[in-house]
Amino acid sequence: MGKRVKAGYIVAIDGPAGAGKSTVSRLLASELQGRLLDTGAMYRSVAYFAVKMHVTTASGFSQIAKKLEFDYEPKNQSLLVNGIEMGQRLRTQSVSSLASKVSAFKGVRQTLTARQRTLAKTWAKSCPVVVEGRDIGTVVFPEVEYKFYVTADPKIRAERRYQQLKKQGAKGVSLKAILKSNIERDKQDSNRKHAPLKCAQDAIVVDTSKMSVNQVVQFMSEHIRGRISLIGD
Ligand code: DC
Repeated sequence: MGKRVKAGYIVAIDGPAGAGKSTVSRLLASELQGRLLDTGAMYRSVAYFAVKMHVTTASGFSQIAKKLEFDYEPKNQSLLVNGIEMGQRLRTQSVSSLASKVSAFKGVRQTLTARQRTLAKTWAKSCPVVVEGRDIGTVVFPEVEYKFYVTADPKIRAERRYQQLKKQGAKGVSLKAILKSNIERDKQDSNRKHAPLKCAQDAIVVDTSKMSVNQVVQFMSEHIRGRISLIGD
């Protein structure tokens, strides 16, 4: 398994929807014996409560963001939101699509960005932290040494999601609809004014189109461990 990674490291992982980022980030966090901060789940939580409370305005979204408390649940590597494990409640189509919209608002981003910095820095005092999102290497933690931008061909991303949904027994899913929704979300995430999805100049681009999940995780962990030994750990 190689060298144990010291505490204090933050690994930034960004990329578009469906490139395998979440799976890879989760496995990498385990491999490094660290924690995962899923920042998408934070935006999804704002959307979830907005749907539940029929909130539709920018100031309403910001108010929700300010009221949310986040914590870590190590067993499932999940984020507790106001003490609750949200699970599949954050994964519905309506929450996914509203999450992309609420994440375009400056007030929401400012609040969640501040929370992300505090959480990751606190956790990093005792273990490595993998932070996954869209603007982690560019805005939230531009200063960190380890940055990856995980991407894949849009058709392959849609196909993977389709297979995943079919495996979960979802009815009436269409590959074409998934491809269309991914393209729409990528467009929204990349073209928004505040903290758009983009690859940091110093990030390592990992195109997962032809790589297995394990190959990606191995590549990243070797890179991190290699760099750490290079700096004389
Ligand atoms: O990674 P995800 O699909 O769970 O993210 C949900 C939404 O939140 C997605 O539309 C992009 C947005 N997001 C963001 O704007 N910034 C982040 N750091 C993470 C997610």
